[in-house]
Amino acid sequence: MEKPAAFPDNFLWGGAIAANQAEGAWNQGGKGPSVADAIAYKSNLDVKNYAGHMSVTDENIADALNGLNDGQYPKRRGIDFYHHYQEDLALFAEMGFKVLRVSIAWSRIFPTGEDLEPNEAGLIFYENLFREMRRLKIEPLVTLSHYEMPLALSEKYNGWVHRKVVDAFVRFCNVCFDRYQHQVRYWLTFNEIDSIHRHPFTTAGIREEKSQPGKAKQDIYQGLHHQFVASALVTRDCHAKIPGSQVGCMLTKLTTYPRTCRPEDVEATLHKNLENHFYADVQVFGEYPPLILRNLELRGIHIEMQPGDLEILKQHTVDFVSFSYYMSLTESTEADAERTAGNTVLGVKNPYLPASEWGWQIDPVGLKISLLELYDRYRKPLFIVENGFGARDTVEAGKIHDPYRIDYFRAHFEQMRDAVHLGVDLMGFTSWGPIDIISAGTSQMSKRYGFIYVDQDDEGQGTLNRLRKDSFYWYQKVIATNGADLT
Ligand code: BG6
Repeated sequence: MEKPAAFPDNFLWGGAIAANQAEGAWNQGGKGPSVADAIAYKSNLDVKNYAGHMSVTDENIADALNGLNDGQYPKRRGIDFYHHYQEDLALFAEMGFKVLRVSIAWSRIFPTGEDLEPNEAGLIFYENLFREMRRLKIEPLVTLSHYEMPLALSEKYNGWVHRKVVDAFVRFCNVCFDRYQHQVRYWLTFNEIDSIHRHPFTTAGIREEKSQPGKAKQDIYQGLHHQFVASALVTRDCHAKIPGSQVGCMLTKLTTYPRTCRPEDVEATLHKNLENHFYADVQVFGEYPPLILRNLELRGIHIEMQPGDLEILKQHTVDFVSFSYYMSLTESTEADAERTAGNTVLGVKNPYLPASEWGWQIDPVGLKISLLELYDRYRKPLFIVENGFGARDTVEAGKIHDPYRIDYFRAHFEQMRDAVHLGVDLMGFTSWGPIDIISAGTSQMSKRYGFIYVDQDDEGQGTLNRLRKDSFYWYQKVIATNGADLT
């Protein structure tokens, strides 16, 4: 008899955070300022306009460097995970986490990116963090670059546009591999490497104002190429230094459907999805897709490559494919098609789907489609390293009732289980922001993803107390039953 759909026995359930959105302590323990520390909170901006929240001008950077009031820069304070990590890990362990995805803030280890020696206090912080995770039997999954490069490298080189940043990053990663080789097995190189096009400053320290007129796009592709090369080089080094380690790429899965079955809409959608897969294609197949190369040529974009770059990409490909999935979009050739916001994108609205307050369309079936599509394309183990529902929560008599979040996860887990049943090799699932953290896109605190509530508002007021939401107990049960009980 056929077995009922179920998750694999060793399935890694857990959550994911990033240093710049959680740690705080932006100038403590020898840490240097990162690009995230220069992003001010703009309360008067439309929350669906991510570009307005994530972009910076030279003037903004000067203000940030001149030490203006911390209150304006929420990512500098995060949720003070730096001082609360033991308490937070205990709560994750109480939920039964098998894995926690964290990132290492590059500027905590190399404050300017080019310091002669790594910052010992920064290294010790992560050593203690990983030791505590291991004690609680939580496997670390570590992202080496998650929107937090040293601000100094952005200032000096226009970020990843300059080849020197490749060397600086490889050096930083090697320090991490040497130091944490006995503590960390699973590594991700660049969070959402594709996001360099959507927010070049936070992803790669690139500022349009620093580019020659008309060369901004070209600079972004150059920075992307440098990240591809750096990713391959550190994959090589990780494999050499840590036997049995596994390195993954990380993609924003922006699954897009044609708005109608008009062949023109279908073709436009095909191009969108080819573009979305391009980044993982390079890291999995070890080469640029021919259609992308031709597209760059047609657009007059020339990527400067050094001799040996293509061989490096070919030789050091990733072991698994990880991705974030929050929403889906549609595409249409009609200029006046109604649009909605998604994860740092603007797409055409899908009339069949509800959306969150931030405009992100809720599409659990889209997760199954994404899993099938990615597994068929890459034939590599997949890892969902971000998924979740950003919502406002209210505290009533110390309780947070969040059935909307439970509904979101239940529907997505059912689709995941189906995908596994259909043959997808899925290693694990880490929910985004299992504890409320600062939003990457809007720098809000009020856009909450957590199973654990943190008492802090958008202006940084609050006790920072942690409270278990209803979803905390629900996720605890899901993990305890390995996804068998989703009620
Ligand atoms: C992902 C990022 O794109 O989306 C995270 O990797 C981010 O850093 C998450 O927090 C959710 O986006 P937001 O803007 O709601 O925080």
